[in-house]
Amino acid sequence: MADRLAGKVALITGAGGGQGRAAAVMFSREGARIIVADVKADGGNETVQMVRAAGGQAEFIAADVSKAQQVEAAVQCAEKSYGALHIMYNNAAVLHRKDGPVATLDEDIWHLVLDVNLKGVYLAASMRFPQ
Ligand SMILES: NC(=O)c1ccc[n+]([C@@H]2O[C@H](COP(=O)([O-])OP(=O)(O)OC[C@H]3O[C@@H](n4cnc5c(N)ncnc54)[C@H](O)[C@@H]3O)[C@@H](O)[C@H]2O)c1
Repeated sequence: MADRLAGKVALITGAGGGQGRAAAVMFSREGARIIVADVKADGGNETVQMVRAAGGQAEFIAADVSKAQQVEAAVQCAEKSYGALHIMYNNAAVLHRKDGPVATLDEDIWHLVLDVNLKGVYLAASMRFPQ
């Protein structure tokens, strides 16, 4: 497996750790240039270093997927850095596991989950991709 994403630019949300980071490294190995977007700068920059250390190209942008302006800035970062955006991987999510029914969640956690996991995907999907 190699070069299946040659020439592609991928924006991966929540790529500062976990599965998003793994995807950034894997997509890069397949030839994509990566925009790493995350609320956590430390983790995001670490992912960028991992991609670059393996010979790939990546840039970090601090972005909260629940904020339209920050999602737009991430898309613009792809255009400024690499001139295009082909792949949007909506990976960022907050996982709030709690024993018991969902109705026992605190209301602020309920809103956070909807804002990040649902609205975040909507916002990213509604952006115009620079081609
Ligand atoms: N881990 C699992 O068992 C599992 C199983 C099925 C699906 N998933 C899904 O895979 C995805 C990644 O899971 P993971 O286990 O790697 O999670 P994780 O918690 O390890 O990583 C999530 C990343 O998203 C970032 N993030 C959180 N809120 C954000 C926001 N508002 N804007 C931008 N970035 C934000 C975090 O900083 C973190 O780097 C999620 O969508 C999750 O629902 C995970």
